[in-house]
Amino acid sequence: MRSLQLVVVAVVAFSLMQTGVSQCDVLRVVGAMYETLSPLLTEMKQDLATEMREGLAALRENLTNIQQQINALTETVSNLEQTLQQNNDEQTPKLDMVKSLLISVNTSMSEGLSAVNTSMSEGLSGVKANLLEHSSQTASELAGLETNQETIDSKLDSLDSKQDGLSMTVTTAHSELERNVLTNVTKELKKTADYILELAHTYECGGTGGWRRVVYLNMTDPNTNCPSGWQLTSHSKRTCGRVNTSILSCDSVLFPVSGGDYTSVCGSIRAYQYGRTDAFEAYHRGHVTTIEGAYVSGVSLTHGNPRQHIWTFAAGFSETTPSRDDVCPCDASINITVPPFVAGDYFCESEIHYPGTPTNSFYPDDPLWDGEGCGSSSSCCSFNNPPYFTKTLPSPTSDPIEARLCWLDIHGSPIEFIELYVK
Ligand SMILES: *[C@@H]1O[C@H](CO)[C@@H](O)[C@H](O)[C@H]1NC(C)=O
Ligand SMILES: *[C@@H]1O[C@H](CO)[C@@H](O)[C@H](O)[C@H]1NC(C)=O
Ligand SMILES: *[C@@H]1O[C@H](CO)[C@@H](O)[C@H](O)[C@H]1NC(C)=O
Ligand SMILES: *[C@@H]1O[C@H](CO)[C@@H](O)[C@H](O)[C@H]1NC(C)=O
Ligand SMILES: *[C@@H]1O[C@H](CO)[C@@H](O)[C@H](O)[C@H]1NC(C)=O
Ligand SMILES: *[C@@H]1O[C@H](CO)[C@@H](O)[C@H](O)[C@H]1NC(C)=O
Ligand SMILES: *[C@@H]1O[C@H](CO)[C@@H](O)[C@H](O)[C@H]1NC(C)=O
Repeated sequence: MRSLQLVVVAVVAFSLMQTGVSQCDVLRVVGAMYETLSPLLTEMKQDLATEMREGLAALRENLTNIQQQINALTETVSNLEQTLQQNNDEQTPKLDMVKSLLISVNTSMSEGLSAVNTSMSEGLSGVKANLLEHSSQTASELAGLETNQETIDSKLDSLDSKQDGLSMTVTTAHSELERNVLTNVTKELKKTADYILELAHTYECGGTGGWRRVVYLNMTDPNTNCPSGWQLTSHSKRTCGRVNTSILSCDSVLFPVSGGDYTSVCGSIRAYQYGRTDAFEAYHRGHVTTIEGAYVSGVSLTHGNPRQHIWTFAAGFSETTPSRDDVCPCDASINITVPPFVAGDYFCESEIHYPGTPTNSFYPDDPLWDGEGCGSSSSCCSFNNPPYFTKTLPSPTSDPIEARLCWLDIHGSPIEFIELYVK
């Protein structure tokens, strides 16, 4: 806007020169232009000062938010510490690491806040100095104004570049802070949070330490992609769905396991019900009889070839139709036949816990296999204590872990989250 006005001055002056108007007239016009510019410069000064102050306030607010997050994390750590101590656990070294991370985040943040202060006050005094220098220059420039076009141009250029310089002070202050301080603090905070989360999760695996995380797929993070074998769905949640649309089939993803043999697997999978899912109906009715087939509507976790069962995540039709054979065993009033190779090693849930039957649509409100949101008639949220399962294998293996996403018809359970540990 202001640059535009300066350009207009230049263009007007230039045109006047070109059309042969007398030098005296040009001087008069340019003088008038400078008078117009003067209040503009004052306004500019105020704007810049305001911008600096607002920038400072926003940054302070960010740091306050971060401080609140640190406090929450501190509380989480101390709660975790209490729980772990009660169990006389091996996780104490990890906790010490979390604590020192927290302290380093905290320190980094205090340093950040004072850097914000310093940088902002330097910026503000820079603006003041610039403007002071500028107002005296404006006066002398006006007095010594030459009437040829080149001089007018260069004066106007110098005004323009001064304005650019002032804006630059503000921009530089912002980006320096963003780069040096906030980014660093935010990064460290995220690291700490992730660490605490992981610690809390392995605690759910039995808390005896030694777990290594081999799969972490978190589709709520917009930068995470589906593994090859599955594809991003177009539902209201970012989830990984099936590629193959054949009935009674599965789409398989192999997750490699590095770091040597393991004998236990622990983890969690979260998905959503899409349409009229069928739990163990295909097996119950005898349509599929082996672990190699689509014996479940949901996710089958196995290893090896032939497949050895680890855990099954079944998606049932509804909680409120107990006499159907496509509901979860924990919702059923009839005996549902669960495959013997699965035995008791499964979670089963349905999103539908209200009267009525599911339609051919996506149900985003109550994730499957999180152990929450079951209606009063259902025992599925306590069966096997979801969301984390722990399975001890009969013998050590270094096999990759295979996750197959299966359906009986085209009603499925697209996946939002997978976390697996082995030891
Ligand atoms: C972080 O610093 C604040 C004061 O700056 C302090 O009250 C708090 O205890 C510190 N937290 C940790 C985890 O060190
Ligand atoms: C930053 O400056 C404000 C006042 O300008 C002061 O209240 C605050 O304590 C300072 N913070 C730091 C960390 O220096
Ligand atoms: C960011 O944090 C790291 C690790 O604590 C530290 O080494 C580095 O100096 C920090 N960078 C800035 C610009 O504060
Ligand atoms: C600071 O706050 C703004 C507005 O809430 C937000 O967009 C920005 O990402 C925050 N920056 C950091 C580093 O937290
Ligand atoms: C998944 O990612 C989101 C977004 O990055 C994060 O807020 C959330 O805590 C993550 N969930 C888990 C369980 O790690
Ligand atoms: C889809 O699954 C069916 C049944 O398992 C299989 O016969 C077919 O080859 C698969 N199609 C593709 C493209 O993988
Ligand atoms: C289910 O099977 C068990 C034993 O296998 C039997 O005791 C029970 O009566 C059966 N229930 C129904 C509703 O058929």
